[in-house]
Amino acid sequence: MTDTFDFDRYDRIRPIRWTGDALELLDQRKLPFTVEYVRCETSDEVAQAIHALTVRGAPAIGIAAAWGVVLAARGVQADDGAQAAERLQAPMQRLHDARPTAVNLAWALARMRRVMAAAGADWREVIEREAKAIADEDLAANRRMGALGAALIEPESGVLTHCNTGSLATAGFGTALGVIRAGFAQGRINRVYAGETRPWLQGARLTVWELQQDGISPILIADSAASHLMKTGAVQWVVVGADRICANGDTANKIGTYQLAIAARHHGVKFMVAAPSSTVDMATASGEAIHIEERDPGEMFALGGVRTAAEDVGAWNPVFDVTPHTLIDAIVTELGVIERPDEAAMRAAFGG
Ligand code: MRU
Repeated sequence: MTDTFDFDRYDRIRPIRWTGDALELLDQRKLPFTVEYVRCETSDEVAQAIHALTVRGAPAIGIAAAWGVVLAARGVQADDGAQAAERLQAPMQRLHDARPTAVNLAWALARMRRVMAAAGADWREVIEREAKAIADEDLAANRRMGALGAALIEPESGVLTHCNTGSLATAGFGTALGVIRAGFAQGRINRVYAGETRPWLQGARLTVWELQQDGISPILIADSAASHLMKTGAVQWVVVGADRICANGDTANKIGTYQLAIAARHHGVKFMVAAPSSTVDMATASGEAIHIEERDPGEMFALGGVRTAAEDVGAWNPVFDVTPHTLIDAIVTELGVIERPDEAAMRAAFGG
């Protein structure tokens, strides 16, 4: 086992590229079969791309929205930042409303608004610098989190992950997938299982593709195989990301995460949430208060454009669920590890 880690060897995919006059988004609806960037020249194109899952993953949609503000600023004349913030309210609200559950979106927009409102005549440069800082800080947070999370994992462990939490979902390296990358490089992890993550198949399409770029061969399982996998003893940790972590540690993440946490507790498998501090929402007391996004039921009816459901059926399509903090063994952020999170531990780590 080694504790050294060559980040650049494992960190090649960039889902978001700022060209100076447009935002390029790696189209995650088409991966892994087509690798194609979509060019956004307006903030409404960015909002639409966030809603359509062209760009997805909590940190990534926050970063995309920040650049969306820079694009929205193009059409605005203002003497100072306060005036600009006033004039940019409507496009910023449309970016905010693109998806409801991941707090990173609202967090990034609030941060952009704050620096803008405080800026003088140079407000355009100020917000462009801030968007870049949001992306740079996310990458640095992920690298730190990877090291902290991996250190919790015993050598030669097996892990199960859900959805996609890698470079594609962030500025780079990933949250839960960053922990897995670091753990794999250090010899702590030697088996990675990826749940396919219906209905959008972020696990089967995105996580598998990402890990393959690194020379890590994950083992794909149907979401419904997770409890059985745990019963075999093949995994010691479930490692997932988060879209919102509440003041008591309750955590919203991709639908299916909650059932993994229940099964993990039943089988004595440890459960880790890895997310940057930008995913922590101390203003939301508990999971009860989280707005869970429900998407078009039509997403349930077909796979890859081929209808799989019988005709004339109804469907319910919530795309996130909440794992109670009592089922979480560790929350890992770039600021440190919180073991057995609860409100007191969260307040000690993140304040009020
Ligand atoms: O609907 P998605 O694909 O945006 O959902 C993504 C997830 O649930 C991720 O697990 C979460 O955003 C963490 S990504 C680092």
